[in-house]
Amino acid sequence: MTTTQRIALIPGDGIGREVVPAALAVLDTVGRRHGIAFGYDEFDWSCARYLAEGAMMPADGLDRIRDHDAIFLGAVGAPGVPDHVSLWGLLIPIRRQFQQYVNLRPIRVFDGLDSPVRGAVAGEVDFVVVRENVEGEYSEIGGRMSRGFPDELAVQQAVFTRAGVTRLVDFGLDLAEGRRRYGEAEPSTRSEPAGAFTPSEHGGTATTRRGGYVTSATKSNGIVHTMPFWDEIVAERTALHPALRWDQEHIDALSAKLVLDPARFDVIVASNLFGDILSDLAAAVAGGIGIAPAANLNPARDFPSMFEPVHGSAPDIAGRGIANPIGAIWTAAMMLDHLGHPEAAAEVENAIAAVLAAREVRTPDLGGTATTTTFTQAVLDAVGTR
Ligand code: NAI
Ligand code: MG
Repeated sequence: MTTTQRIALIPGDGIGREVVPAALAVLDTVGRRHGIAFGYDEFDWSCARYLAEGAMMPADGLDRIRDHDAIFLGAVGAPGVPDHVSLWGLLIPIRRQFQQYVNLRPIRVFDGLDSPVRGAVAGEVDFVVVRENVEGEYSEIGGRMSRGFPDELAVQQAVFTRAGVTRLVDFGLDLAEGRRRYGEAEPSTRSEPAGAFTPSEHGGTATTRRGGYVTSATKSNGIVHTMPFWDEIVAERTALHPALRWDQEHIDALSAKLVLDPARFDVIVASNLFGDILSDLAAAVAGGIGIAPAANLNPARDFPSMFEPVHGSAPDIAGRGIANPIGAIWTAAMMLDHLGHPEAAAEVENAIAAVLAAREVRTPDLGGTATTTTFTQAVLDAVGTR
């Protein structure tokens, strides 16, 4: 029996419009193999629409997509439109109103794709950043005074709630318990009881390779209200998972370790700002922003979740047909997983891995000469071959 998934499609601007068709081609191919049909409703919400009509999306935009199974977005952003317009006029309303409180960003170093970091070896670097997506440092609370005067000042409040931090941390802990890392046979092999690491132990014994390991990004030495609160909740919640190893790192030291020893990480839980920065850094460690996928999840499934590659609209290369579609295609795999099709999702990820491992076809950002279409065709040809 064929299941039909209704997808709200927002290609957006620039290369968003070029990588979305690539992802759809892969979805349709893998869908045919697994009895999944996709019905797409396309929306022109974008900076182009903003320039023409004065708004990124119509006033009733959220109502139009609330009943879809998922939202798939390319990228939004255009020269001449301030970035806060595209962010606060489209992405943030969707993330917040649909309670997509987890931003999930997997990082993996693929065979055949050289990382700029010497120590980042294929098969060893495989972790996920779990970023808080609806509260924290990105708040609208604050203001500016005395504009243009010597005593001018700006204040911006961060908002951390017990409910918000708890649900985010719980998601990360559950993920760490069930996640299968590259090269691991079964999730069950990773649950050897190791006990919780106390913060004082970090750095030393917390070497990895075993998975089932959570790192909390903090900065409770400098940020003295919200971050100690974050730390307390992390400690409370991890105590409920005695089989998991965990530690916490200040964001500055964590950033350095992400470059020096990326293979040590498994699941990183982080606030909105820290997770945003870490995941771009991690994407660079994995070989470039063009390959990085992301999911904005409403784990409670009260609303649709939104899937979008990490990269933006890349106006510098838009229109030339050379955008790397891996980020969008991998993002489509995450959507398949979320919609309950893990075998189809794995097939897509394996197809990307197979094309990269063959070291033949790649787009210019990865040092090759392939177009978006040529690369996508190679992925389509590889679907189901391993
Ligand atoms: P960007 O990700 O669009 O581009 C950064 C650099 O990476 C550029 O040199 C670009 O050519 C390259 N690049 C990105 N994706 C690529 C791909 N798939 N293949 C090959 N090369 C790729 O970030 P930037 O330049 O900071 O922002 C451009 C616009 O995109 C801005 O308007 C920004 O607001 C928007 N943006 C939107 C996001 C979204 O829709 N979620 C996320 C990030 C930025
Ligand atoms: Mg970012």
